[in-house]
Amino acid sequence: MRRIPASLAILALCVNLAQAHDNGDGEFEAAIEYRTGVMNVMLWNLKHMGAVVKGKAKYDQAAFTRQARDLNAASHLDILPGFPEDSDEGDDTDAKGEIWLDWDNFTAKLDSLRKETSALATTAAGGDFAAIKTQYGKVGKACKSCHKAFRE
Ligand code: HEC
Repeated sequence: MRRIPASLAILALCVNLAQAHDNGDGEFEAAIEYRTGVMNVMLWNLKHMGAVVKGKAKYDQAAFTRQARDLNAASHLDILPGFPEDSDEGDDTDAKGEIWLDWDNFTAKLDSLRKETSALATTAAGGDFAAIKTQYGKVGKACKSCHKAFRE
């Protein structure tokens, strides 16, 4: 094997680490924007439905069904690549480090949300307001359950 002078090897390592760090930061930033973007799409729809369920806005079955459908679609986006390991550092994120210590639980909570949003989409299309209210509550709980465990 050809021997590489130690100083050169260390220099190469430093350059490597510096690059990895730069790339990491850029990727984390983009990932954080992506995941909070998806979260905000979900909130937009949940909020509008929430106003109706709480009697603060008029129930319009077609609009409600669209919002439930869009929430369901957003919850099924492939959001997990938006959570690269240890991307909980910095001011731009409220993600907790527990996400990567308890990844199975995190993904289980995402699966629960998807199950509930899917049921809400079906219930909304059916137009039974009492059933819609109940199912809306289950979706809200699924959001909160994950935030409680994994968001600052
Ligand atoms: C599987 C876990 C999980 C579920 C389920 C979940 N969230 Fe989140 N949410 C997070 C995490 C983690 C953050 C923090 C992300 C960050 O700041 O990087 C977050 C952040 C947010 C934010 C703040 C975004 C921002 O701009 O800072 C909103 C709004 C939000 N979630 C809405 C929702 C809604 C609405 C639901 C349910 C329909 C939901 N979330 C379900 C994990 C989840």
